[in-house]
Amino acid sequence: MHRMTAEKSANCLCLVTGAAGFIGYHLAKRLIREGHRVIGVDCFTDYYDIEIKKRNVAELLCNPNFTLHREDLVESADSLPGGVRWVFHQAAQAGVRASWGREFAQYTHNNILATQRLLEWARRSKPERFIYASSSSVYGAAEKLPMAEDDLPLPVSPYGVSKLAAEHLCNLYHHNFGIPAVSLRYFTVYGPGQRPDMAFHRFIRAILDEKEVVVYGTGEQTRDFTYVDDIIDANLAAVQAERAAGRVYNIGGGSTISVNGVLEILHDLMGKDIKIRRESVQAGDPPHTYADTSRAREELGFLPRTDLREGLAAMVKSFTGRIR
Ligand code: UGA
Repeated sequence: MHRMTAEKSANCLCLVTGAAGFIGYHLAKRLIREGHRVIGVDCFTDYYDIEIKKRNVAELLCNPNFTLHREDLVESADSLPGGVRWVFHQAAQAGVRASWGREFAQYTHNNILATQRLLEWARRSKPERFIYASSSSVYGAAEKLPMAEDDLPLPVSPYGVSKLAAEHLCNLYHHNFGIPAVSLRYFTVYGPGQRPDMAFHRFIRAILDEKEVVVYGTGEQTRDFTYVDDIIDANLAAVQAERAAGRVYNIGGGSTISVNGVLEILHDLMGKDIKIRRESVQAGDPPHTYADTSRAREELGFLPRTDLREGLAAMVKSFTGRIR
């Protein structure tokens, strides 16, 4: 499969926040593979099993072009090294459904405050590009589909509010101080190494263990699922596209499907019966997401390359070493 590369700008010093997490790890790995040097930052929150993050980082540390700063951006963004050319701000308190109640403090700290601190550092450090990992959850329960960047964002979860607030911070630091910030609104990312709280990871694990798969609501909710390598391609395109500074882009996988549709594909790929337990619709879950990616296509040259069946097969294989 052909993948975009950043080879035109070889050997850049990059900062990847959240480098121990699902997307940050894949991104750091790719940047190193393409000859760049990566400073990874992660504070190893325990929202999910920290051993997963330690394994990711241990693999990255095998390469001399990767260094790790184990710290909380809110406390220490000020002391990050200078000379960074590309910033990829992937660190966040993730999870739409877990963002209610007292937990919201984690979201304001790790998503809003941390981004503001990093932007202040960027004012002094002057990177050539600052990519912010935003989210489809900024749109909320939009009635107009597909969702386009100029639509009024109306999040329906506290998580979505925190991701939108940080996106606004990126825009205003661009407007006031010329920070070349680009927001990429990721649509439900999946692939090998997906966070264990997310749907596909939970589904595949439960099917393999012959346990019940939990489906929230009817399962007719739809998502524009996006394969992680396509997300990495979008990041590499966004650091190099001339017009991208100060812009917001939808990054979606190009195939919208219901949760029930996903389970049918998994049944087919894994050849196992699936036992379903239905639970109520979760507060904060939008009924549908569907990305209009025409702006990303025109301005970044972004095109998703992995269709859902292919991506799910790769993910199943990462659990079992094989598919049916
Ligand atoms: C995901 C990520 O978790 C967020 O961090 C990200 O910002 C967001 O995508 C986004 O695109 O903005 P979500 O779409 O909820 O959020 O991703 P999944 O956890 O993969 O859930 C997909 C769908 O499956 C949801 O409708 C959810 O209700 C459903 N689901 C999830 C189940 O039916 N059962 C489960 O056990 C888990």
